Amino acid sequence: MALVPFDDRDGQIWQDGVMVPWREARLHVLSHGLHYASGVFEGERAYAGNIFKLRMHTERLFNSARILGMEIPYTTDEIDAACMQVVAANGLQDAYVRPVVWRGSEMMAVSAQNSRIHVAIATWAWPAMFADRMKGIRLDLAEWKRPHPETAPTASKASGLYMIGTLSKHAAEAKGFQDALMLDWRGRVAESTGANIFFVFDGELHTPTPDCFLDGITRRVVMQLARRNQIKVVERPILPEELPRASEVMLVGTGAEVTPVREIAGQVYTPGRITQTLLDDYEKLVRMNPADVEKRLAA
Ligand SMILES: Cc1ncc(COP(=O)(O)O)c(C=O)c1O
Repeated sequence: MALVPFDDRDGQIWQDGVMVPWREARLHVLSHGLHYASGVFEGERAYAGNIFKLRMHTERLFNSARILGMEIPYTTDEIDAACMQVVAANGLQDAYVRPVVWRGSEMMAVSAQNSRIHVAIATWAWPAMFADRMKGIRLDLAEWKRPHPETAPTASKASGLYMIGTLSKHAAEAKGFQDALMLDWRGRVAESTGANIFFVFDGELHTPTPDCFLDGITRRVVMQLARRNQIKVVERPILPEELPRASEVMLVGTGAEVTPVREIAGQVYTPGRITQTLLDDYEKLVRMNPADVEKRLAA
């Protein structure tokens, strides 16, 4: 498949308050965000023209930026509106939405107190891919570990934290796996390179406590869906030694949605009833209008 580079497409990108033609949405090579990873971003999905859990994503974007000492020069309402505006301007219904915040070019050193904070929002078509979903994906075990929260700003969706994700995913792909399961600095199960993880143990849904990795929005939604289905949800430290005992495993995230896992480094799983239930419920939920989503989760 020919790759269409992301800087050479048709459309509009929202950049620092205005819509600009796609190919003109540029930043200078001497940008602090590029050299020193002073950047945070979001990954959102629009379904049938509505951005799922938009306000939560926007709030997380602001929180991620604040953790890195960056004040976004817009309100959350303005960013919500800009996200919706950019989806509409590109004529999209089912799409990925990528807001990104970074420090600009005023200062080129570790310290960048007076740098301007930039914001851009891009979107591109991302149709749902449901063919063969229940077949599941294969994960390798990553060598890189999610860091201690005193070693990195782990509660922020910060660009720099993805460095070990890319390394881990590349290593897994080189061995024929689709993704990698990452442990944390203590050797406990954390998440994959771009999604949270759930296990079924004895008919209950278990997931690691997110104390040094992203507490995903999908993760929280899936926990609500499970409880609505009378499935007991347990958040706790999970050790890799426990993995052979799991009967089902799934990844959840904005991109992954609910993705069954059929192997972790040689250990084989068969996606089952709980995975299917959560996958179907999530798929229905994301296509509801935002008011109905909240009603359904509250019910
Ligand atoms: C590292 C990582 N963990 C977890 C998630 C899941 O988060 P969310 O459900 O908010 O998309 C993501 C993003 O999708 C991620 O990049």
